[in-house]
Amino acid sequence: MKNNTVITVNVIGAGLAGLSAARGLAKRGVKVRLFSVHSSERAQSNLAEGGINASLDVMGENDSWREHFDDTMKGGCFLADPEMVKELTMNAPEVVMDLDRLGVPFHRENGHIVQRNFGGQKKKRTAYAMSSTGRVLVAALTDEVRKHEYSGCIKRYPHHRFERIIIKNNECAGVQIYDLYTHTRKVYEGPVIIASGGFNGMFPGLTTGTTANTGLAAAELFSQGVEFANLEFIQYHPTTTEITGKRLLISEAARGEGGRLFYFKDDGSYCYFMEEKYGSGGNLMPRDVISREMAVLGRQVYLDLTKLTEDTWNDKLSDLRDEIMHYMSVDPKLEPVPVSPGIHYFMGGIRVDIGHRAGIAGLYAAGECACAYHGANRLGGNSLLGAIYGGLRAAVSVVDDIAEGAFKGAGAPDNDDIADFTYIADSEAGIKSFMENELANGLGIIRDGIKLQNAIDKINAGFNDFLIESGADRGLAISDELMCRYRFTLAILKSALERKESRGAHTRRDYPKTLKEYRGTSVTRWNGSQIDYRLEIIPDSDTGVED
Ligand code: FUM
Repeated sequence: MKNNTVITVNVIGAGLAGLSAARGLAKRGVKVRLFSVHSSERAQSNLAEGGINASLDVMGENDSWREHFDDTMKGGCFLADPEMVKELTMNAPEVVMDLDRLGVPFHRENGHIVQRNFGGQKKKRTAYAMSSTGRVLVAALTDEVRKHEYSGCIKRYPHHRFERIIIKNNECAGVQIYDLYTHTRKVYEGPVIIASGGFNGMFPGLTTGTTANTGLAAAELFSQGVEFANLEFIQYHPTTTEITGKRLLISEAARGEGGRLFYFKDDGSYCYFMEEKYGSGGNLMPRDVISREMAVLGRQVYLDLTKLTEDTWNDKLSDLRDEIMHYMSVDPKLEPVPVSPGIHYFMGGIRVDIGHRAGIAGLYAAGECACAYHGANRLGGNSLLGAIYGGLRAAVSVVDDIAEGAFKGAGAPDNDDIADFTYIADSEAGIKSFMENELANGLGIIRDGIKLQNAIDKINAGFNDFLIESGADRGLAISDELMCRYRFTLAILKSALERKESRGAHTRRDYPKTLKEYRGTSVTRWNGSQIDYRLEIIPDSDTGVED
């Protein structure tokens, strides 16, 4: 691969990170193949509700990127890379203004963008479109990508599934893709940006995300030796409710606009427990804090939205009200809504550097599949920002790397590089869901070493039994997908077991304190026969936050 006129970049995933990466590349004259199992209109990004953060400073509160940076670092319990967060927060206003120029219908008053309160932030800096922000952003960027498609710079491949990267001479030389229309597989040459989203599908029934994000791409990459970081940090969003097969998100925007959490005391009166403990900002504490309080409380919690004004409902939250009425048959204008925490976001993921390079030349990652900006707990409104900025940042790195001749030209992959990849068969569905159950059992809001070790032991025992029952120990094949999922599941549990402290979204009953000796990035890697684990300590000087 010699220069950008001949290189085509393969982007995996057509949600916001993938769209942003594709657009960033196309604007710089680089050709793109955009692969995704579903079309952009079905991507997880559409489900993001409350908004996107940027210190636009339009609310008369003297906001600045520096404060956005401080809130993000503190919210993430000082595990994020300060240089990355600095870039993110400095560039956030331009990201939002760019979206504004594309015609995204951000909420406005007197012609100017208005921003709302969101959890863990001292200033109103979340720009929004009702509570459907993700959907309008996806629409805008999809439209942009279409323009580049007409000019021939981007080619979209919906219904194409990632199977593996092709590694030659320690370089990512291309990607193997399975065409779900023709049921054939093919390899495509060129650098690869992974933007495959979170691992929601590994937690069926427990997550606000789409279970179409199966986590398979991550599991495949893990099995290929790609490093993953901070997998133990899984965000529970405090205000969700059970619906068929998943959990419905009741956006933090509802609390940003004045919603209050409470439980019924035995005498029937309301206890606003977050306000009692944390003062007037209690309902907008970071998500890890609220979810933990709710778990410890162990009672049914309600969200009181009955005091919101008519204007707020009409202008800012009418879609949220419709959704609550549709799924719960409760009118939130009139009665409190029962809520409980649900899995919402994965802070950990593919380990990337500041340029979103993923440890192998030619491989990059952005969006929720990457461990980038959020440390031990993500602030609401930073995921849309992280996805769009991260995708763009990865694209810029690819362009820089091409210009610098970073790709040695490992050799174009061809059909000889195609390897079979087998998917979970009916006979394997039971062991898959057994692993998912144990994963969820180990990774509740409050964890402990015994439970985590139990989950690991049970998965290992269950897997060995399965190998014997299925004849795999006598040479009969089990699917590649199952093997990949088995390893990746254990890597998540191991990351949680090894972090013997409580920090952000990782709360250990047996290690309740946040410990300096654990202020570091946990890194896991499949070495070909077992999972390597290490904790990379972050130097004291490196929190990036001014006292
Ligand atoms: O509550 C919400 O609207 C979620 C937003 C986010 O996760 O960024």
